[in-house]
Amino acid sequence: MSLLDKHAIIERNATLLLVGSLLVVTIGGIVEIAPLFYLQNTIEKAEGMRPYSPLELAGRNIYVREGCYVCHSQMIRPFRDEVERYGHYSLAAESMYDHPFQWGSKRTGPDLARVGDRYSNEWHAQHLIEPRAVVPESIMPSYAFLKTTPLDVGNMASHLKANAAVAVPYTQEMIDNAGADLRAQADPNADTSGLEARYPKAKVGDFDGDPQQLTEMDALIAYLQMLGTLVDFKTYVETGADR
Ligand code: HEC
Repeated sequence: MSLLDKHAIIERNATLLLVGSLLVVTIGGIVEIAPLFYLQNTIEKAEGMRPYSPLELAGRNIYVREGCYVCHSQMIRPFRDEVERYGHYSLAAESMYDHPFQWGSKRTGPDLARVGDRYSNEWHAQHLIEPRAVVPESIMPSYAFLKTTPLDVGNMASHLKANAAVAVPYTQEMIDNAGADLRAQADPNADTSGLEARYPKAKVGDFDGDPQQLTEMDALIAYLQMLGTLVDFKTYVETGADR
């Protein structure tokens, strides 16, 4: 009996075909899915990654609330044109504390994965108030109201706790200091030694240019200014584990 004839038997017997297909799909499924259970192999550790500081997390919440992800991605793909424009391609580890992640699927504006440190705080404040004041051809909407909306700081500890529940490594010390850390980061005169020990590389300052009031714009700019700045790509060595 030739191979073709043998195959004809399977094709003409619906039950046999069903059992055979299930077997093949099961093997394929196990091969694809099983390695993901060993996440330490799938996500490469990247030196410098830490959970968001409370002020950055508050800013990130505003980023999500305002739907910035509808126009901006945070995912630099490993292509030459992207890497030359935006910097080192994104690592899985860089989104490891994002719940939900902000990769996005559409770029009406530029990718923001490494926008931190690219512009001054003043530039960001100006740009958010009136994008066309700094980029005349911009079609980005104005977010001026963020500068006059006081930041809701009351429930920051709960935000950290919620993230800790989904395995973001916030310690009890970080949760206890959430409110104080949040205020300290937006106050250029505050003692920030505790904040900086808990959240290395946290940028401190009056982000929105109005030291009188802690606003949603302070938080959003603090978040934008840290994006892509935690991993030092001058010393980063590729291990190939992220391929
Ligand atoms: C309707 C689409 C749209 C939305 C929504 C939007 N943006 Fe933009 N954004 C753009 C466009 C287009 C540009 C490029 C022109 C410019 O710089 O203004 C841009 C530029 C930027 C830049 C400068 C990036 C760079 O590398 O030059 C930042 C930062 C930024 N947006 C932040 C935000 C934030 C934060 C939000 C949410 C509060 C937001 N955008 C919402 C369209 C959008």
